[in-house]
Amino acid sequence: MTNPTVWIEQKKQGQAHSQTEIDALVQAVMSGTMKDYQLSAWLMAVCLNGLNDDETFFLTKAFVESGDVLDLHGMGIEGITVDKHSTGGVGDKTTLIVAPLMAAAGLKVAKLSGRGLGFTGGTIDKLEAIPHFQVELSETTFVEQIQRIGLALSSQTPQLTPADGVFYALRDVTATVDNLSLIAASVMSKKIAAGADVIVLDIKAGKGAFMKSPQDAEALASLCRTIGTRFGKAVETTISPMNAPLGKAIGHTVEVIEAIEVLQGKATGASLDLEALAVKLTAMALVAAKRYESLETATAYVQGLLRDGSAFARFQAWIEAQGGDVTSLSDTSLLAQPLRKLTVTSPHTGVIQSIDAMGIAKVVKALGGGRTVKTDALDYGVGVILHHAEGDAVQAGEPLLELWVGATYDESLQTSALDAFVIV
Ligand code: URA
Repeated sequence: MTNPTVWIEQKKQGQAHSQTEIDALVQAVMSGTMKDYQLSAWLMAVCLNGLNDDETFFLTKAFVESGDVLDLHGMGIEGITVDKHSTGGVGDKTTLIVAPLMAAAGLKVAKLSGRGLGFTGGTIDKLEAIPHFQVELSETTFVEQIQRIGLALSSQTPQLTPADGVFYALRDVTATVDNLSLIAASVMSKKIAAGADVIVLDIKAGKGAFMKSPQDAEALASLCRTIGTRFGKAVETTISPMNAPLGKAIGHTVEVIEAIEVLQGKATGASLDLEALAVKLTAMALVAAKRYESLETATAYVQGLLRDGSAFARFQAWIEAQGGDVTSLSDTSLLAQPLRKLTVTSPHTGVIQSIDAMGIAKVVKALGGGRTVKTDALDYGVGVILHHAEGDAVQAGEPLLELWVGATYDESLQTSALDAFVIV
């Protein structure tokens, strides 16, 4: 058995590992023979000296093989299966829109999602703002629901890519998250293990994202496509900006409400960017699934699904299938509510130059809408609704945003929210 310090030494010297070495390293971590402090040292050596494309693929494969791999067609799902993933951002509720849109377009959406931690919101948490929505589905229900209505979303099981879970937990506390290969292996292993034929990736770039520059985001996209291709998957990627929040709502109930507006074809203002991204991701999946030849025709078709009511009808069918209260989708006062809603006005007249996504995310977290540790409870009713987008002109005293506040409200949060705006 190799002493783990050999792998650390190799990576420290910038040498490439073989597949056998990567397999042995991941197995040693999972069996406990490679200790946390040794894995930490190896991860840091990877951050400094990198993994090449082969090593990244071998690491992804070892993560996949550390747990269960879903065989969606073997489980009885017919048709082209699709999965969508975003690398995480503030106000990113695209899955709530894209999943029913893809299903309404005839694709089979098999989605496993996680909860939010820190400043990124989790889709599962957002859906829990809908009374009685069930996020844990048995395999039988998952398959039956996809066959019947074209989509199901369940919380990610620990049996899928357990090695990624161990590596990720350590990366989080050793400043080794932001390495392209480690991110690509982490993201792609979960997607490969979840078994879909087509994988659509929305890679965020900007101040509120892991990838700060479009160049880094494109490098990650390219790496993910390369890995996907080696697994025989159709992988489509897009890079989308994450400097300002996506759309106008940040929180849980508020994001569900914004998603409903988009699904009903009623998007206005900043929600139009959200709609455009959701339509693009769905159209990309349709082209990858060979249902349409061009992105233009697929886009026109998908836009029609928002206007003719099919997307919203599929959303209602989905929520109902997973036990959620469908009346809360038309009467949104039945969703989790805040204690109070406060309007924050513009301190002066000018043009909004920027809205800092992280600044707004911090406010939502302080209101009780985010977690510091996995076990923290969330207040689904709190959040922020932006009345304006970047580039808008505002008058002094005009409403800039709404704060939906709960029990942990403190007045300084109004100032913190204003500090996220640059108005010139
Ligand atoms: N999301 C993941 O799942 N893994 C990473 O490493 C980064 C973002």
